[in-house]
Amino acid sequence: MTNDRRSAISLRVNDVTHRLTVDHRMTLLDALREEIGHTGPKKGCDHGQCGACTVLLDGRRAVSCLTLAVATEGAEVTTIEGVEHPLQAAFVERDGFQCGYCTSGQLCSAIGMLAEHAAGWPSAVTADVSPDSSPPHLDASEVRERMSGNLCRCGAYPAIVGAIIEVAG
Ligand code: FES
Ligand code: FES
Repeated sequence: MTNDRRSAISLRVNDVTHRLTVDHRMTLLDALREEIGHTGPKKGCDHGQCGACTVLLDGRRAVSCLTLAVATEGAEVTTIEGVEHPLQAAFVERDGFQCGYCTSGQLCSAIGMLAEHAAGWPSAVTADVSPDSSPPHLDASEVRERMSGNLCRCGAYPAIVGAIIEVAG
């Protein structure tokens, strides 16, 4: 059922389908937190600047505060609640967080970033971006650049970068 401002949609989150009626202006972040109860994605800036709200959309990282819920119908949304990845243990072992507010976004972003790297996507610090080149080695500067959309006000960056490099092998 629809009216001028609301539509019934199906949101597929962590392998579960949720049927919601949402305002067309509702962000995916608000739908996840307020309608579905997944509070792992955090609202930091609500403006696309901090990365705390990062989730995976069909395996690719996205800031959910800049994504409209109605636009994600048919997509597979993965929040930190649906993540099982070696990065989580690496973050714990290396103290890759302090308050933890940014951590769910850091983890989702890092998972998406590792997939981008494996697919050969270049970054701004990648020297050779020719189509036939193999992915650049994920050193600290590569990881910092590729994770630059995720801020940590506690300054846990050295441990975050170390954890990602460790898991990337
Ligand atoms: Fe989405 Fe900051 S809350 S980028
Ligand atoms: Fe506190 Fe990153 S651990 S903001």
